[in-house]
Amino acid sequence: MEDWNARQYLKFEDERTRPPRDLLAQVPLERPRRVVDLGCGPGNSTELLLARFPHAEVIGLDSSPNMLRQARERLAACTFIEVDITSWAPDAETDVLFANAVFQWVPDHPAVLRRLLEALPGGGVLAVQMPDNTGEPAHVLQRELAESWRWPSDAVVPPAGRDELLSPEAYYDLLKPVCSHIDIWHSVYNHVMADARSIVEWFKGSALQPVLSALDAAGREKFLAAYTEKISGAYRPRFDGKVLLRFPRLFIVAVR
Ligand SMILES: C[S@@+](CC[C@H](N)C(=O)[O-])C[C@H]1O[C@@H](n2cnc3c(N)ncnc32)[C@H](O)[C@@H]1O
Repeated sequence: MEDWNARQYLKFEDERTRPPRDLLAQVPLERPRRVVDLGCGPGNSTELLLARFPHAEVIGLDSSPNMLRQARERLAACTFIEVDITSWAPDAETDVLFANAVFQWVPDHPAVLRRLLEALPGGGVLAVQMPDNTGEPAHVLQRELAESWRWPSDAVVPPAGRDELLSPEAYYDLLKPVCSHIDIWHSVYNHVMADARSIVEWFKGSALQPVLSALDAAGREKFLAAYTEKISGAYRPRFDGKVLLRFPRLFIVAVR
């Protein structure tokens, strides 16, 4: 996958930062020593962690140089490290692992979640939020379009969709054996978007990335035009012309 585009991602910063606020509100620690923001992106979630835990050492990890550049500009006093969290492990001082909107991109993420939780000291917290939206029209239409697309013979065709999340019951059975307390819940946001095109802009900053980066400029334009037409049919304008982007998300807070 091509590098992430921080500018595109931040077009909807307010909406994208609401879930990490809601996740952080449920982290039951007052004075953690070290707090690590896994998949920190452009630093929007890291900024929340710094404000909530002013006495902690807050570190942001991400695999994207573009995202990290933006995060370092935003929070000059914070440490940001380029790392693939699939094979990363926390050190003994780390009391909070915070992961907003990243594990849906990590292959075999349940095994990685369990390993990271096991690596925390007693009382340490793993807090995770993942979009649970692969059944929503925006994703279904993307998959259908990608599957029926006439890919150029030399294109590296990306997988049609992301891995499905597990059920809450399955996350419970996976994580509860290695933690003292666990809280799992869903929230469904209904983001008010200016129009259907704005929904396309939203997903250009996230789920559409693998598809778009497999196409050349002309292919991208064609794909986006076809996708926009489908999205316009699926997300109908409300009385004032706005559209609602329904967005279910899964949250997990596990205390070691
Ligand atoms: C959707 S953004 C989330 C940004 C931020 N945490 C937030 O709350 O808005 C996902 C981030 O995860 C990063 N990422 C994806 N897979 C990763 C991996 N295996 N290791 C480290 N970072 C990863 C991406 O580079 C991207 O910056």
